[in-house]
Amino acid sequence: MKVGARGYRSIWLAEDGWAVEIIDQTRLPHDFVTRRLETLDEAATAIRDMWVRGAPLIGATAAYGLALALRADASEASLERAAQVLLDTRPTAVNLNWAIDDLLARLRPAAEAARAGLAYARAREICDEDVATNHAIGGHGLGLIRAAWEAAERARPVNLLTHCNAGWLATVDWGTALAPIYLAHDEGIPVHVWVDETRPRNQGAGLTAWELGEHGVAHTVIVDNAGGHLMQRGRVDLCITGTDRTTAAGDVCNKIGTYLKALAAHDNGVPFYVALPGPTIDWTIEDGLAEIPIEERAGAEVAEVTGMTAEGHITSVRITPENSPLGNFAFDVTPARLITGLITERGVCPASREGLLALYPERHNQ
Ligand code: MRU
Repeated sequence: MKVGARGYRSIWLAEDGWAVEIIDQTRLPHDFVTRRLETLDEAATAIRDMWVRGAPLIGATAAYGLALALRADASEASLERAAQVLLDTRPTAVNLNWAIDDLLARLRPAAEAARAGLAYARAREICDEDVATNHAIGGHGLGLIRAAWEAAERARPVNLLTHCNAGWLATVDWGTALAPIYLAHDEGIPVHVWVDETRPRNQGAGLTAWELGEHGVAHTVIVDNAGGHLMQRGRVDLCITGTDRTTAAGDVCNKIGTYLKALAAHDNGVPFYVALPGPTIDWTIEDGLAEIPIEERAGAEVAEVTGMTAEGHITSVRITPENSPLGNFAFDVTPARLITGLITERGVCPASREGLLALYPERHNQ
């Protein structure tokens, strides 16, 4: 997507052909800063400290992290250690496990001298596949937005609500939940997006709002608790969120607060869709509540808010009493029964085992 006049992906190879460059998402929306990753440890830090984030981009960064590790040392021991270091960064987004498993299956049997080259090639391929996948998700979701516009007799913009950031910054390009919105906007359908701020890290207020603004999409940032109020008053036509892990039965794990939005949508008859690429489906599990590991992050993210001062300095301020205990649960699980449909690169399906298998028949025996 464009930042100013220049097209960007969220991750790319540097001009030297081996280092990896990313956009430091901890600086947005105030500063657009790119960073260079040269080692496995830097790639792991980028994921853990959320310079990069979002399930598909975490997977892509991990793939390049393995390539960086193998460039330094392509031995079996280095490969296994690098995989573990990367797997230990963040527990919830299954795209990380998917990317590491995919690379390990190709690299373990390969000759040591060939490993780094193979890893770079596959990492690049994973990035390209992600871009094509998200564009396809956009095409399928576009049909839903078009239908909502027709239902409104083309008389007013379609009002969408999204949570966290599932835009191009969370993927390699296009995004998942935001891809249909970009395509609708580009096609001339008037859209307006309610953007949940998404405490504690404010990915909505900082990243989604920035992305939509750069692309010229009308949007309004709201506090996390406003969604139910807007839905009760008929001011949301459609919710679309992303997901970090979706079970084979259609339960969806996504940024904390998604479940409450789905409950409000259900109570008010507002369609609630979740957009996801194939690698976000965890075919090994059915029950999201029992089986998905929920990341718990540092309490400081709850105690503090980061922003820019009038003088232009980015700083954090504490908003809680100094000694209050803090809980920082980063994700929640929305049961399949609350989800109207899953928007995938292969089409839209019910959030159920049957629905997913109809789109991914090759998974029938798993
Ligand atoms: O903690 P984050 O910012 O990595 O969480 C991101 C989300 O919850 C996104 O909605 C999800 O990864 C889908 S990204 C296309």
